[in-house]
Amino acid sequence: MIRFDNVTKTYMRGQHPAVENLDIEFSRGEFVFLVGASGSGKSTMMRMVLKEVAPTRGTVYVAGRDLSRIPSWRVPALRRDIGMVFQDFRLLPSKTAYQNIEFALAVIGTPRKVVRRLVPEMLEMVGLEDKGKRLPHELSGGEQQRVAIARAYVNRPTILLADEPTGNLDPSTAEGILELLSEINERGTTVVMATHDQSAVDRMRRRVVEMVGGKVVRDEQDGRYETEGALSVISGNLPDDSAHREEHPLDDVESRDGSGAGQDVSAREDEPASDVLEEELIDEREARLAQEEDAFSEDEDEEGLR
Ligand SMILES: Nc1ncnc2c1ncn2[C@@H]1O[C@H](COP(=O)(O)OP(=O)(O)OP(=O)(O)O)[C@@H](O)[C@H]1O
Ligand SMILES: [Mg+2]
Repeated sequence: MIRFDNVTKTYMRGQHPAVENLDIEFSRGEFVFLVGASGSGKSTMMRMVLKEVAPTRGTVYVAGRDLSRIPSWRVPALRRDIGMVFQDFRLLPSKTAYQNIEFALAVIGTPRKVVRRLVPEMLEMVGLEDKGKRLPHELSGGEQQRVAIARAYVNRPTILLADEPTGNLDPSTAEGILELLSEINERGTTVVMATHDQSAVDRMRRRVVEMVGGKVVRDEQDGRYETEGALSVISGNLPDDSAHREEHPLDDVESRDGSGAGQDVSAREDEPASDVLEEELIDEREARLAQEEDAFSEDEDEEGLR
């Protein structure tokens, strides 16, 4: 679904690469946590998937499609099918919470009846049913982030990229959001979430990809926020101690755990290597939307009979 093929991104000449020689793949339907210290390259990875940032070297594929070959006029279509929650919300400042969510549906031509049903449902799901009329500046940071999550999900995207979606939420709200993301994932959306939320990662036990200085140093199924080694206070192996992380290169993880990263990355032969048209993404999303619409139209028929 998403593949980085030897990708390096250097923002400024002479600067240490934000992401370096990245070779990793996220499969259709997976839920992946990206963890790592501030500046380790997590947001850069997501921005490359959105084609907001171009790799300096290497290739990023989404649904088998080399993003560098997608012409600029097709980029909006690509982005419409990738839900994104940003660290800094990026809500439309002159639109209410309701309108921000509504907007994401309107631009893809969703029928008005479905919009009227889905938007309140989304607001309720993120706990803001009574705040739909507020403008972003009238909401707390945490509330704005919840609107952003609702907006990213309402389109039923094939891929959802979430950059610290729980960063501004209180623990119980964060838990609710994680449940929502999990539900989104269960419905077939590939979810990639960058996070510093240790409890979320440890609770969910999903694939964990850890970045240090732009490189993947750990890739585990059913992973935790930190390796057992990193958790050991006795060994002095502190979470953000990159010197110690050097002692746990990926090879080491693989040799300790045969079900770990190495197999993950190589066991993707079932997926077609050749180009799959990006339409496939759109088709998938539309099929999901159609299902939703069917569900709603049943209700609407009932309403019609009353
Ligand atoms: N637009 C930019 N121009 C120059 N350097 C950048 C730019 N964006 C990011 N960087 C640098 O690239 C590196 C990776 O940044 P990135 O934002 O990907 O990290 P991150 O893992 O998302 O961090 P955080 O957890 O703080 O969000 C950092 O050293 C950062 O300073
Ligand atoms: Mg970031």
